[in-house]
Amino acid sequence: MNIQENVLLSPYTTFHLGGPARFFVCVQTIDEAREALAFAAKRSLPVLILGGGSNMLIGDRGFPGLVIKMECCGIEYVEGEGNTTVIAGAGEEWDPFVAQMVAKGFWGVENLSGIPGTVGAAPVQNIGAYGVEAKETIMWVEAIDRESGDLVRIPNSDCAFGYRSSTFKSKPDRYCIVRVAFSLRTSGTPNLSYKDLREHFTGDATPSLAAIREFLLATRARKLPDIRHEGCAGSFFLNPCVSQERASMLATRYPQLPQYPAPHGVKVSLAWLLDHALDMRGARIGGARLYEQQPLVLVADTSATANDVLALRDVVAKKMRDMFAIEIESEVKIIL
Ligand code: EPU
Repeated sequence: MNIQENVLLSPYTTFHLGGPARFFVCVQTIDEAREALAFAAKRSLPVLILGGGSNMLIGDRGFPGLVIKMECCGIEYVEGEGNTTVIAGAGEEWDPFVAQMVAKGFWGVENLSGIPGTVGAAPVQNIGAYGVEAKETIMWVEAIDRESGDLVRIPNSDCAFGYRSSTFKSKPDRYCIVRVAFSLRTSGTPNLSYKDLREHFTGDATPSLAAIREFLLATRARKLPDIRHEGCAGSFFLNPCVSQERASMLATRYPQLPQYPAPHGVKVSLAWLLDHALDMRGARIGGARLYEQQPLVLVADTSATANDVLALRDVVAKKMRDMFAIEIESEVKIIL
């Protein structure tokens, strides 16, 4: 295990932001992950586990503990009747994984095409897009329980999955995810419940896996910046969930505002409010701005600092509070 000191984190995040880690290590096996965790525990250092760094904003001062870059890879297949269990290492990159499942004709993750990050991050925030969430195919998550040091297998029903949430997100210091098992169908039907997909495939009720993937990659490329040139971490904010009463008030004032049923109220489109009610599309502070094509996405140009992004976040949050009495939350994990 090669533990490095004072490693700049910006190249490891899709925001391309973040100061140095006090200690930094890449782990390729479960034993190495255990060793790294023991190193941190012995020195009482805080630990940050990094996958693709695609849902994270690390502050300009960096991280005072040990950053563990998870690189445990490998994919195994266990064939069943009508489905295959696919067990993937946490360090596998998510989108190449999806591409492989689509190429094999396995149904279940195709609507999650084009999402940056790693397999190990998928259960943490229960990644979701185009009418599908990771929780629908995840069977179990294997992790090192940092309290006991044991390798545990947590079934889907114990993961507390919700809208961009899970037990791994709510207890960030408890688990270090090493493998995830997905149950994928060998013959499936497309999920065209999301408006963009439904409209595109009108007249074709059974598009192929490849056609769905191709359409979503093109759609995402239009809505999200190219992270090779500008920094971003996808949607920066969660869509807020409001009471039925507030949702009705908003609907009267803004009949076009997209609203969706949610477990404890109504989810409203923050992108729509930022665009049409607050006219904030393209709003900028320093090198950070709300993306022109999708204002839920915060973009950092090459001159940006993490403080620019945080200042812009605060302006958006204040406007939402002052105008609508709605408290918004970041989807992105903020490390300060
Ligand atoms: N809209 C505007 N102006 C815009 C863009 C969008 O008014 O410039 C309105 C439109 O009415 C549109 C609505 O906002 O119909 C919703 O937009 P979109 O379909 O892009 O979905 P979203 O709710 O803003 C969520 C996820 C995305 C995911 C898309 C597609 C969250 C926080 N974000 O965005 O996830 O790709 O749905 O399913 O739930 C991510 O998590 O990083 C992410 C990109």
